[in-house]
Amino acid sequence: MKKLLLIAILFVGSLFAQVKGDVEVPYISYQIKMGKGFDAVQANCLMCHSFGYIINQGPQSRDFWAKKTEKMVTHFKAPITKEDAEIVTDYLFKYYGNGKIK
Ligand code: HEC
Repeated sequence: MKKLLLIAILFVGSLFAQVKGDVEVPYISYQIKMGKGFDAVQANCLMCHSFGYIINQGPQSRDFWAKKTEKMVTHFKAPITKEDAEIVTDYLFKYYGNGKIK
């Protein structure tokens, strides 16, 4: 019975929870670079998550991007064809690459 009362009090209390002042939500903008292959990224990658997931990795090697794209297919069952995976990898390496192949 005491447990029930406690649950009831907690529940009712949460209904009246208030926040004083404005709540600020950080605004994060992702710079999307338009270029050859971007449409393939849009079609194959952005159905599951935002672009932020991708470019939060920072500049990376071609190998890194190829493996990430492969990971999306093997781990998360992304329906990406081999041709599109190549195009996406080229795009990511060109615009978010560090210049290194490996
Ligand atoms: C079928 C859904 C799906 C598709 C399509 C998809 N991803 Fe992901 N992606 C995920 C999931 C799930 C995660 C992991 C989310 C988490 O850990 O919170 C993820 C995470 C990531 C990460 C973060 C690093 C990591 O290894 O977890 C990167 C980078 C990434 N995806 C790149 C891509 C790229 C590039 C494409 C397009 C070629 C793509 N994703 C397409 C589902 C997908």
